[in-house]
Amino acid sequence: MMEIPSIFTPVDWSFAFYEGLNQHQDSTSRDKTYAELGCGNGWISIALAEKLSPLKVYGLDINPRAIKIAWINLYLNALDDNGLPVYDREGKTLLDRVEFHESDLLSYCIDNKIELDCIVGCIPQILNPNPEAISKIMTENSSEKFLYSLSNYCALQGFFEDQFGLGLIARAVEEGRAVIKPMGIMIFNIGGRPGQGVCERLFLRRGFHISKLWQTKIMQAADTDISALVEIEQNSPHPFEFFMDLVGDQSVSARTAQAYMKSGGRVSHALSVYSCQLHKPIQVKKLFEILKDGFNEISSSLDLSFDNDSVAAEKMAFLVYLASFLKENKSNPCEPPFGCLNFRNLVAEFMKSYYNIPSTSDNVAVFPSRAVAIEISLRLFSPALAIVDEHLTRHLPKQWLTSSAIEGKSRL
Ligand SMILES: C[S@@+](CC[C@H](N)C(=O)[O-])C[C@H]1O[C@@H](n2cnc3c(N)ncnc32)[C@H](O)[C@@H]1O
Repeated sequence: MMEIPSIFTPVDWSFAFYEGLNQHQDSTSRDKTYAELGCGNGWISIALAEKLSPLKVYGLDINPRAIKIAWINLYLNALDDNGLPVYDREGKTLLDRVEFHESDLLSYCIDNKIELDCIVGCIPQILNPNPEAISKIMTENSSEKFLYSLSNYCALQGFFEDQFGLGLIARAVEEGRAVIKPMGIMIFNIGGRPGQGVCERLFLRRGFHISKLWQTKIMQAADTDISALVEIEQNSPHPFEFFMDLVGDQSVSARTAQAYMKSGGRVSHALSVYSCQLHKPIQVKKLFEILKDGFNEISSSLDLSFDNDSVAAEKMAFLVYLASFLKENKSNPCEPPFGCLNFRNLVAEFMKSYYNIPSTSDNVAVFPSRAVAIEISLRLFSPALAIVDEHLTRHLPKQWLTSSAIEGKSRL
């Protein structure tokens, strides 16, 4: 395999990923279409094609030089010493089975309407410590240092998971949800730095069920600056999980890990390979298809992780119905004063059926956001004192707020 300084050189991080991919048992890979996100020098796409003989593997990477090298590596592996194609048992060569394309995550497949059976990805999970660097326009002539940095760092993606460095994975999962076939599988390499709970919720709340294919610990790459994680930690109650050397179960924070690394120590973190599959594929895909145009806020705040599996199908059907109602019904669901009657009836019915709350449309009011709801309620009831979640106080008139706080909550 050919390597150059501006692209990622495979290390433990990607070997562990390949190990995880090997745990995934797929008996019928022959007629399947795969995509590899962040293919780098292409070795994983080529190895998958050799091993599984799929219909096609699309190796995708945002770094244009990685794509050039991946094509060279493909030819090096597809031809013999005399430059002649090596045919497999089906009379095909690696050149029939693999293609590499420059692509921001799945944009190539989305633009070309390619439906996928399997998406695999080993992509960055640390925010770039230098946000300006990442906003540069990227070309094939960009500096080696900049192109290499794309292997280790990502930019803010506008997702809740950005705060844990997992924004790029979150975007990949959402793009994947749109182009994957209903029974398709996605497999991702996830560094365990934000903790297992955070990593797993990323998939569950987007309507997937997951299984862990592989888990190991790897050393934190010495060339990756973890100061963005230290900064995140300073502003949140959530510590990251690192370990000193490869031994020991007691985790330390990113701050401690950084100090330890600066003094010459080595730190490790958990690495898991997750496979995920849509829970109710037809309904979940339909739901997000409906919400795609104009309902982004609803789409990003939905939580499709269901505690009780037995009602998941019914709830999903109901959500799809609500979404189509929003889309087709021209009347504003938030029409004053309490919201559209039909919509309130539907919500009341939902609360009655699934949460045993004996509600009718009279008990339901529909507002465009929690912040508006709270402001209207406070204006309506004019309480002497109200205790409000501190995140919501941001949206309230300043003169309503008192300076004191009770156990972390703002007083009004
Ligand atoms: C850790 S490297 C993995 C490379 C390769 N899979 C391997 O294991 O050797 C991450 C790769 O993701 C690519 N990458 C970063 N952001 C990307 C994006 N938005 N879309 C596609 N690829 C991206 C980088 O250029 C880099 O090649």
